[in-house]
Amino acid sequence: MAAAYNELLDATIQHLENLKARGVRNVVVAPETLKALKLPVGDLRLAIERPSAAATVGKMAANISNVSALPEKALNVAPKNISTAVISPDAAEQSAIGNRQSAITSSSEKLAAYEALRERALACVKCPHLAASRKNVVFGVGNIEAQLMFVGEAPGADEDELGEPFVGAAGQLLTKIIQATGLSRADVYIANILKCRPDTPGQTSGNRKPTPGEMATCIPYLHEQIDLIRPKVLVALGATAVEGLLGKTVGITKLRGNWQEYRGTPLMPTYHPAYLLRNQAMSEKRNAWEDLLAVMEKLEMPISEKQQNYFLKA
Ligand code: URA
Repeated sequence: MAAAYNELLDATIQHLENLKARGVRNVVVAPETLKALKLPVGDLRLAIERPSAAATVGKMAANISNVSALPEKALNVAPKNISTAVISPDAAEQSAIGNRQSAITSSSEKLAAYEALRERALACVKCPHLAASRKNVVFGVGNIEAQLMFVGEAPGADEDELGEPFVGAAGQLLTKIIQATGLSRADVYIANILKCRPDTPGQTSGNRKPTPGEMATCIPYLHEQIDLIRPKVLVALGATAVEGLLGKTVGITKLRGNWQEYRGTPLMPTYHPAYLLRNQAMSEKRNAWEDLLAVMEKLEMPISEKQQNYFLKA
């Protein structure tokens, strides 16, 4: 048991160190976790040996590991999100400590693998021209336990500046679309085909489409990201995302709304939010919304009558 206790402690310390390395300074901790943390070390070790107390210790580690799955910005304000991540007391009481620990181990292994992948991507110089022009590598953001993952094209100037995908005008529209489904950015995962902003030499603004060579060089990072996160549904935002993930160069107008498959995962192609900003037609908003309704249905999310009718003429 002492070995199990030490393993649990090591995993927890590793989590917290990973968070600290990512600049996180506060974590939300459930009251029961704080109570358990106040136990003297000997009692905590003993607690692992007693099934009822073991549930507290298991929940404690689960709470901390699930906190780490949320994006940094959600960590200070996450009680609503956290509550969805914390295992229910009943389930906790029923599970044997061995099962709990293996679950914790696998979740910490997942986080460690995610962090390692992120570190590799942040140090990438495979496209020397992009490595030279970028301010930040825009790896991805969100919940690594997310059921829903959005994939866009490539970072723009705002994303390059902040190191986070979809934070500019198109990103703000994407955030509104996500919120219209009843989810938040912290519930989903967002990434791009390219992790660096396509350079625009001689220009101070504007974006360009990634070249096939840049896409081929960068896509392995996204493949690994998807393999780790294992979302239930992928949403490809725009033609470049479809091309990068599926190798299809069919126009997005033809493909959108039709379920595709990415390595066995259902993938919904839809419009890129930048297109929706350029084209304000109600019919196109409705088309994009119908794609999201199909995604919600696939994920068995509740859909209200109001949601059902968004962008329909009165
Ligand atoms: N457009 C994208 O495709 N990705 C971003 O991150 C921002 C804009």
